[in-house]
Amino acid sequence: MAKVTASVYTSHVPAIGAALDLGKSGDAYWQPLFAGYEPSKAWLKDNTPDVIFLVYNDHATAFSLDIIPTFAIGCAAEYRPADEGWGPRPVPVVKGHPELAAHIAHSVIQDDFDLTVINKMDVDHGLTVPLSLMCGQVSAWPCPVIPFAVNVVQYPVPSGRRCFNLGRAIGKAIALYDQPLKVQVWGTGGMSHQLQGPRAGLINREWDNKFLDRLIAEPDKLADVPHMEYVHEAGSEGIELVMWLIARGAMSNNPPRVAHRFYHVPASNTAVGHLILENS
Ligand code: DHB
Ligand code: FE
Repeated sequence: MAKVTASVYTSHVPAIGAALDLGKSGDAYWQPLFAGYEPSKAWLKDNTPDVIFLVYNDHATAFSLDIIPTFAIGCAAEYRPADEGWGPRPVPVVKGHPELAAHIAHSVIQDDFDLTVINKMDVDHGLTVPLSLMCGQVSAWPCPVIPFAVNVVQYPVPSGRRCFNLGRAIGKAIALYDQPLKVQVWGTGGMSHQLQGPRAGLINREWDNKFLDRLIAEPDKLADVPHMEYVHEAGSEGIELVMWLIARGAMSNNPPRVAHRFYHVPASNTAVGHLILENS
């Protein structure tokens, strides 16, 4: 049977991708950020999974106001890096895992969660920047990836509670897959940031760090935080953090082992948070 071995959480700021692609990762501004991911790259080399189930949000790239799926699962064989206005990032094509994705779609939809099935899609910085942070500049990603897109861009957005319960259903689906695959579930986006309006530039270190503490120790209680608290405390784009609850929900109920924790301000307009949790 397949098994969720670990979960990874990280911000997905587009400027991080640009810094890497333009050879600026050693610059004084960026060096402390990339240093925080050196242990993560080593960890991923030692703990390469068979599949990454990557929870992220599309930023009006593949989707638009025409169609707004709350939850969408990628069942395609591959996904190309999207052109977000400056040409596609020079990173590898993302190979999918159609068989496991179709199995998860079946199981989770039968568990009463409405998923949109995607058979063709380009992937934006929300998905490629976490891969770059965890893998560095590589000629191929280390394993297939199942993209799982969550609408946190256009209201209404899903609640933390629904995301956590969905994560549980995803974890259950993975455990029911009839192949001995090691699967990591990644949650991306956040931490505190607001990109527009009078509060643009908002950062809330205290709230962010409390969120990391609670995500590790009491995710079920953290799931009760209403979406307006994310907006008030972590900024309008801080709502991306509900996606971390999907990844956390896919973990077992036992306390996880914290393999790495990192927090850094600033990266572009945002706080960057990062956790690696291993299932015990
Ligand atoms: C920015 C965009 C994002 O999607 C994000 O999660 C953080 C920052 C930005 O444009 O700076
Ligand atoms: Fe984002």
